[in-house]
Amino acid sequence: MGLSIIILAAGKGSRMCSKNPKVLQKLAGKHLIEHVINTVTKLQAEETVVVYGHLGGKVQDALAHHGDNIKWVEQTELLGTGHAVLQALDSINPNNKVLILYGDVPLISFDTLNHFVEVTRENQLGILTAEVDNPAGLGRIIRNKYHDVMEIVEEKDATDIQKQITEINTGIYCVSANHLAQWLPELKSNNAQAEYYLTDIVAMARMQQVGIRVAQPIDIFEISGVNTRVELAQLERTWQRSRAKVIMDGGVSIADPDRIDIRGDVTIGQDTWIDNNVILEGQITIGENCIIGPGCFIKDATIGSNCKIKPYSVIEGAQIGSNTTVGPYARVRPDTILDDGVQVGNFVEIKASRLATGVKAGHLSYIGNAEIDANCNIGAGVITCNYDGARKHKTEIGKNVFVGSNSSLVAPITIEDGATIAAGTVVTKSVESESLTCLLYTSDAA
Ligand code: UD1
Ligand code: CA
Repeated sequence: MGLSIIILAAGKGSRMCSKNPKVLQKLAGKHLIEHVINTVTKLQAEETVVVYGHLGGKVQDALAHHGDNIKWVEQTELLGTGHAVLQALDSINPNNKVLILYGDVPLISFDTLNHFVEVTRENQLGILTAEVDNPAGLGRIIRNKYHDVMEIVEEKDATDIQKQITEINTGIYCVSANHLAQWLPELKSNNAQAEYYLTDIVAMARMQQVGIRVAQPIDIFEISGVNTRVELAQLERTWQRSRAKVIMDGGVSIADPDRIDIRGDVTIGQDTWIDNNVILEGQITIGENCIIGPGCFIKDATIGSNCKIKPYSVIEGAQIGSNTTVGPYARVRPDTILDDGVQVGNFVEIKASRLATGVKAGHLSYIGNAEIDANCNIGAGVITCNYDGARKHKTEIGKNVFVGSNSSLVAPITIEDGATIAAGTVVTKSVESESLTCLLYTSDAA
């Protein structure tokens, strides 16, 4: 039996007080629904259907990069979760098992879902339930004295005794399309919210003696839905703590796991130490024994081993070799390569450049579109003037070049090996190897 996925995402999310649909709020740098889509992709289902409604065009635009892998079904009137699934039914293979998920329950894990789909047999109704401390607002799982699941009762329809039950409905189900096709048209909306409740299929299954298979999530946070911005922030922190734990268990120290943000995929080597308020985004690889200072923002970067990234540095789209130091307050921009043993100091900005082994640029420089060969010294305040108002030009600097403080190198320009540029020189044409270039005013009067 193949697998189809239905993701419900038509809800308004009014409590977000946002002009954007709820499922496009971001958690760990990604839209809520993107988390769900990325997770279900690993299940390799035959098809994924998203039921959209409120501001659906925005949701479609945000997920456009998934192309034809997502089928879209509009729910024009929000008449309840059962009604929502019914809208999707025509779009799925009637011979498949269906896994029903929510676009606003972002952290459901692959392992939980994979296990859940595996244990739910073809002729059963699978329900993912959880024991929670505070079940307020959620559907309660009603069991008989033999502990069989009989039905789900929504909080608003529950008696005071039923409200005491702490086993709740996560809202995630696994059931054949065939059963859904039988049950969904039979749903009634005679309940406290006048909605077609998907939860009512449980009592229907029971009546028809269809087996009910209950499973639980691996981590309780996985089933948390997001309804308000406060809940979003709480879930973000819970998720960040769990990411931090995985990293720490791998041998990395984090000064305070409540003060790190990981918004992407990170691989970090043993004995690297990460100080407070570091943000890691996108695809990040950091080697062993590094020190990442407080307040650093690092995005889509590779950093070797034994590096020091000093406080408040911003690194984006760069490749940094081992034994390199960057910062404090440095900005390393996309397409930059810093080889092993490079030293980049405070208030240095580097863009689309390569600094070879042993290059030092200690203070207050702008280096753009430059190739700087081994062991050069770039003095304080040196600027590569790479832009003529229309185009960018390249600066090429050979090995062992000394560029004195506050020099301007007007590109395109080549400075050959071993040359020395005296402080304060504006260099407008190429410089030969081992030469001295200076533009100097001195007064003998002193
Ligand atoms: C639902 C369950 C409840 C469960 C809870 C878990 C029902 C009747 N109740 O309640 O048992 O404990 O989830 O979070 O199913 N949606 C649509 N179209 C609609 C209505 C909802 O797409 O017409 C989507 C929403 O966007 C959301 C999801 O379905 O992603 C859940 O809807 P919501 O209204 O939040 O259901 P709950 O009242 O929380
Ligand atoms: Ca909800």
